[in-house]
Amino acid sequence: MISRDHAWSVLTEFTKSDSLRKHARAVEASMRAYARRYGEDLDAWGGAGILHDFDYEMHPRAPHHPLKGAEILLARRVPERIVYAILAHADYSGLPRVSRLDRALYACDELSGFVHAVALVRPGRVIRGLEPSSVRKKLKDKAFARTVNRDDVYRGAGELGVDLDEHIAFVIAALTDVAPRDRPGARVTRLPAPSHPRFPRDVVHPEGAPRP
Ligand SMILES: [Fe+2]
Repeated sequence: MISRDHAWSVLTEFTKSDSLRKHARAVEASMRAYARRYGEDLDAWGGAGILHDFDYEMHPRAPHHPLKGAEILLARRVPERIVYAILAHADYSGLPRVSRLDRALYACDELSGFVHAVALVRPGRVIRGLEPSSVRKKLKDKAFARTVNRDDVYRGAGELGVDLDEHIAFVIAALTDVAPRDRPGARVTRLPAPSHPRFPRDVVHPEGAPRP
């Protein structure tokens, strides 16, 4: 068992970057939504989303992220199945994604980051009303959010056994649920995040928005 408070306190102890915290929050939202759909433990699945990149500031290079971080998580009594899912979300760990939790984390990580990126280049930079077809179009646009590997997005949906369009719509709905209300006049700034294989840098976001 893991509580949301515990997962969040471990994340914020090791992750100071606002953008990485937002990314954690976005993946958590998608994971909680899938846990609800599959009748799984919301806090466990949400915790995997919160913690999957918790060591990235400390260990930005593979394979230290997430292998070194996994040791810390176990020492903090994060359940083994969550730690395994976090290890398996990195292809280079060599660990197969076995459980539905493993596969959901991989699928949500990729797509939550990408959907966030698409929302932020819309007029008003809001996710509300974003159509799955717009996300599909951006997936085909190789110049957009170049750091997101499209093959990983497609593989993620395939491994989870969900249709890609449905997966996109599902993630949009999950992120819309936790999005802040539209804030007119929000300033625009570059994301300060360090490079991350699944975190698009070449997008803008409303400064200070607490959630994607
Ligand atoms: Fe991630």
